[in-house]
Amino acid sequence: MKIFIDTANLDEIRKVHAWGILDGVTTNPSLIAREGGDFIETIHEICGLVKGPVSAETVSQDPEGMIKEGRLLAKISEHVVVKVPLTAAGLTATRALSDDGIDVNVTLIFQSSQALMAAKAGAAYVSPFLGRLDDIATDGVQLIEEIVQIFGNYPELGTEVLAASIRTPLHVSQVACAGSDVATIPYGVLSKLVNHPLTASGNAQFLADWDTVPDNDIVGQMNRWLEKRGS
Ligand code: E4P
Repeated sequence: MKIFIDTANLDEIRKVHAWGILDGVTTNPSLIAREGGDFIETIHEICGLVKGPVSAETVSQDPEGMIKEGRLLAKISEHVVVKVPLTAAGLTATRALSDDGIDVNVTLIFQSSQALMAAKAGAAYVSPFLGRLDDIATDGVQLIEEIVQIFGNYPELGTEVLAASIRTPLHVSQVACAGSDVATIPYGVLSKLVNHPLTASGNAQFLADWDTVPDNDIVGQMNRWLEKRGS
């Protein structure tokens, strides 16, 4: 499963990129607004940091406007994926942009049949929002499972499932088990994945025990050992 970060914050992207696990980035108008920077410059900088798909969302509500914005956004970098909402206008724009060879991420998907429509229109990615479904007491993971099953039934669609609105480490495991192609994960959840309390306490115990070993300088010991062997 590919891991994207769901943020427009450059520091967060830099930190996670340094872990060597980052495949792409998703943004949306709310995330861009939260950072307060220039939209186009932000997307350009993100594309400079991560050599993978970077979703940038259109805001026009009519197909002509979406297509125009999408074609312009795609000029920022070959890595830009144009994001449009799952509306009738969004489907028209998806068809036009994908016919132009521009990758489209259809967002705000809450039903598996919406994902099918987006795929039929030529979407490269569909973004089902599982956390927002969980918020209203509906099973978001089940939505991912359904979409994975539908796309598995019709592989000719060629659309990837991008699990979005992820709120917990458990969501990450669940969408991976469901076979999602991608999970886009906020920085807070990614941090929890690498900061498990049992990993931290186990590591602290190993270090405390290691301190009781008389000769515990690994590098010094190895150098002496290699010298003795003549290598
Ligand atoms: C996906 O592309 C969206 O940006 C995002 O996952 C929405 O998450 P939220 O429901 O936490 O706002």
